[in-house]
Amino acid sequence: MRLYWLAVVALCAAAIAPPPAFAQRAARPAATPRVEFGGTGAVPARRGIVVSVSSFASDIGAATLARGGNAVDAAVATAFALAVTHPSAGNIGGGGFMVVRMASGEATTFDFREKAPLSATPTMFQTADGAIAYALTDSGWLSPGVPGTVHGMESAHARLGKLPWRSLVLPAAQLAAQGFPLSRALAADLNEQLLTTFAPFPSSMAAYGRRDGRAWRAGDRLRLPDLARTLRAIADSGARAFYTGWIADSLVQQMRDHGGAITARDLAEYRAVERAPLRGTYLGNDIIAMGPPSSGGVVLIETLNQLEALSAERFARGTPEFLHLRIEAARRAYLDRARYIGDPDFATVPLERLLSTQYADSLARSIDPARASRSVSLASDLDIATEPMETTHFSVVDAEGNAVSQTYTLEGGYGSGIVVRGTGFLLNNEMGDFNKKAGYTSTRGDIGTAPNLIAPGKRMLSSMTPVILARDDQLLLVTGSPGGRTIPNTVIDVVLGVTAFRQPVRAAVDAPRIHHQWLPDVTQFEVGAISTAAQFSLAEMGHLLRQRPAQSQGDAHSIWYDARTKTAYGAHDRRSPDGKASAAAVRRRAPASGKR
Ligand code: DON
Repeated sequence: MRLYWLAVVALCAAAIAPPPAFAQRAARPAATPRVEFGGTGAVPARRGIVVSVSSFASDIGAATLARGGNAVDAAVATAFALAVTHPSAGNIGGGGFMVVRMASGEATTFDFREKAPLSATPTMFQTADGAIAYALTDSGWLSPGVPGTVHGMESAHARLGKLPWRSLVLPAAQLAAQGFPLSRALAADLNEQLLTTFAPFPSSMAAYGRRDGRAWRAGDRLRLPDLARTLRAIADSGARAFYTGWIADSLVQQMRDHGGAITARDLAEYRAVERAPLRGTYLGNDIIAMGPPSSGGVVLIETLNQLEALSAERFARGTPEFLHLRIEAARRAYLDRARYIGDPDFATVPLERLLSTQYADSLARSIDPARASRSVSLASDLDIATEPMETTHFSVVDAEGNAVSQTYTLEGGYGSGIVVRGTGFLLNNEMGDFNKKAGYTSTRGDIGTAPNLIAPGKRMLSSMTPVILARDDQLLLVTGSPGGRTIPNTVIDVVLGVTAFRQPVRAAVDAPRIHHQWLPDVTQFEVGAISTAAQFSLAEMGHLLRQRPAQSQGDAHSIWYDARTKTAYGAHDRRSPDGKASAAAVRRRAPASGKR
C-alpha cells in the first residue's frame, strides 16, 4: 500500500517537477561506503586467484600465477584448460570476450567473437516460404561461425602476457592426453549428449564416447588424444596452426563434404580485435565493460544509470519498490539492446547516447512508480508478432592486482555438436545469435531489427557481460556469467549486491536472481528472489511473474578485491557443482624469460 501513496504523491508532483525519486540524483552522496568484511565466505588469496567452473582449470590457472605469470597468462592457460575439462562451453572452436584491467589502471578488451562465413546471407536460416528454420541454427553444418578463441588468446597474450605462450597451452594439452576423472555431473551430461547432440556425428561419438560403448560413470577417466594433438600444435606454432595447416584443412574438408559454409579463406582471415572498453559509473564505482558486438556492457550500464537516477538503492533488495524499478530499468535497456546493437564494424551503434546519464534520466522519468509498463507499447515502432548455462565465465586476479574477466562460449551446450574429424575440438553454433529474419520481432523473443542481421564477415550480437569494477582507482570486483540473454541481469544482480546492498561477494553471488529481457514481457525469478508478499504487490502493479527453480540463473564466478590489504577473495558460483576458487601457491621458481 505504501507504494500507492508514493505513486499518488509522485503523480501529483509530476505536473510541476520530475518524480521525487528521480529528482534525487544531484542530492545523492557521490559514493556509498565501502563494503566491510567483503571477503566473508570467500577464498582469500594474496598471490592471485582463479575462479572458474572447473576445479582442474582453476588449478592450472593458479599454477600459472604461481610460476610468475600475470592475470592474462593465467586467463589464457585457464581458457585452454576449460576447452578440455568443461567441453560444453570451454572451447577453442567458439569465441568470446576478455576484459582486462591492469593494476596501473590501464584497461582494454579483446573481442574474439565468431564471425559469419563470407558466404553467409541474411536469409540463410529461412525456408522457401520465409519461416525461420531454427533447426539449422541449433546444430549441424551451417550453425558454426568462424571460431575466434585461439586468435583471441594469442592477441591478449601478445599484448599483455609475460610467460612463454607454449607454457600456457601445454598444461591443457597434457591434461587432454593424460585424461582427467569425470565428475558425476559431467559423466551424466556426456551420457545425455551421446544420445542426442553427438549422435548424428561419428567424430563426436568417437571423441566423447566410452571405448566399450557403455555409459560414463563418475570417476572414469576421459582422455582426448586428438584434442591433445591439436593443443600441442597450437602450443608449438600459435594461432597459425589452428587457422591454417592440418587443423584448418580438416575443418574445411568436413564443411565441404557436408554442405557447411566455412572455407579456408574464412579461417585464414579471422582476426580478434582489441577494442576500448565501455565505461560507466554506479554509486561511485567505475565500471569497465565489454562493448558491441556484445550487448552486455550497454545493458549493464544503461540499467545501473537508471537505477542511480531513481536512487533505487534507498529501498531494500527484496521490496516491491526496488524490484519494480529494477525490472522497469532492465526492460528499457533490453529494448535498446534489440533496437540498436550489432557488430560495430557493420552497424552504427549510438553508444554515447545509450550510455549517457541524460538518456538514463529520460528513461527513468518514463517509469511509472506504481505501474508496470507494457514492453510492446514501449516499442510502437517495431512490428511485433505474438507468439540454458552453456557458456562459461571465469575471473582472474594476480598478485599485483591485474585482473581479467573472460566469458566465452560455443553458444548452446557443446555448440553444434560437431567434433572436427581428427582434431578433437567442438565447433560452435553461434550463427543462431544473429537476427534470422528482417522485421520479425516476436513476443517470444525473436528480434528482427537491422543492426544484427546476418552479413558476410559480421560478428553476431552477444549478451556476454564480462565486467570489472574499480573504485578510487583500485580494483574492486571481477564478474560475469553464462546464461544467454539472462547474462546482463545476472551480472547486474551481482554488481548491485556488492555495491548498492553492500554484500560480501559470497553473499552477492549466492543471492537469488531475477530476469526481464523486454520480450517476452515476463519477469523470471529464482526461488527466494521475490517473496510471496512482494509477488502480490508486483502483480497488482501489472507485472507478470514466473518462478524458476532455485539456483538456476547464471554461473557468476567472481572475485572481490580488497585494495587496502591487497587480498583477492574468490567466490565460485555454487550453482555449478564442479567450480572452484584456486588461490595461487607461493612462487616456486623464477619465471621463464621471454614470451616465446
Ligand atoms: O553470446 C551470447 O549471448 C550467447 N551465445 C551465449 C549463450 C549462452 O550463454 C548459453 N548458455 N547459457
